[in-house]
Amino acid sequence: MKPAALARIYRGTPRNLAALARRLRAGELVAVPTETVYGLAADAGNARACRAIFRAKGRPATDPLIVHIHSLAELGELAVPNAAARRLAAAFWPGPLTLVLPKRAAVPDVVTAGRRSVAIRMPQHPLLRQLLKLTGRPLAAPSANPFGYVSPTTAEHVRSGLGSKIGHILDGGPARVGLESTIVDLRDPEAPRLLRPGKITRRQVEQVLRSKLAGPARRSAEPGAGQVAPGQLARHYSPRTPVVLHRRLTAATVARGSRAEAWIFLRRPSRLRGANIFWLDAQGSLAGAARRLFSVLRRLDGAGFSQLHAELAPPGGLGEAINDRLKRAAAA
Ligand code: TXA
Ligand code: MG
Repeated sequence: MKPAALARIYRGTPRNLAALARRLRAGELVAVPTETVYGLAADAGNARACRAIFRAKGRPATDPLIVHIHSLAELGELAVPNAAARRLAAAFWPGPLTLVLPKRAAVPDVVTAGRRSVAIRMPQHPLLRQLLKLTGRPLAAPSANPFGYVSPTTAEHVRSGLGSKIGHILDGGPARVGLESTIVDLRDPEAPRLLRPGKITRRQVEQVLRSKLAGPARRSAEPGAGQVAPGQLARHYSPRTPVVLHRRLTAATVARGSRAEAWIFLRRPSRLRGANIFWLDAQGSLAGAARRLFSVLRRLDGAGFSQLHAELAPPGGLGEAINDRLKRAAAA
């Protein structure tokens, strides 16, 4: 059998951007870079194109998509913003923050999985901003990975996961943030909830809102509660190799293991070296650790280790987002 054709990767030249914008307007799928992770984009107003996103990812139709916009005017066309949403948008957009708000009729049901709310974000990546402008339409885009696997932070990651399912990938380099956007539920502005921690921290959001964030509400904690945060299945972002978490890794912990096990430190350990010793950031910077977490998990997932041992970040700040993804990767 002939292998399926692999998606083409495009550099962000003016000519390529114009061609990809035409494809999006014609209802085709294009994988796009964002500052968080790569997304699989389609015209958010085209229900048929959005259904193709679910098929390509193998994503259940119950898991809604995030709509990406270029300008603030589009927010009011797709959703019903409140004062809290306007404050957060002014503080953090364009950037890695997604707002959940009551939706308007312009958003097809397939995008929101039938909900009356829609998730919206204005991304910061310059190539995606250009593409949004050229396309002239909001773009629905979940992360560009097969459902349940680790999110992609490079064009090559997208091709290795979805290359036989999609035709076009815009290369914007390695994602700067490396973790998916922070999601804040503002349907009730009096009771804002953090649905997913990210680069924009709980504290940063609370300072702008001048109120505490509740949540996230876990599906497991509220069986049948109607999926407040539908994508937040416990097992998500998961490599195939089992992941074991440690509050702190030391040479003594490593000495108790075998060479078939990999050890992922937050910062470069002093002295300890070996073919199974890894770290997320040489200095232990959390921004660096967030940026590299998914690519390290992917690389080690393909390296034949029996287990991946990972060290948790200190709690709070960006550590909340890093640990959230580590815990999902480790959930059996
Ligand atoms: O950084 C990001 O957010 C990336 C890039 C591509 O923008 N997107 C992303 O999408 O991570 P993903 O695969 O996580 O899917 C969107 C998630 C859903 O799984 C769900 O958790 C949440 O957004 N979501 C979307 N619409 C929602 C809604 N109406 N209510 C609650 N949560 C919603
Ligand atoms: Mg995802």
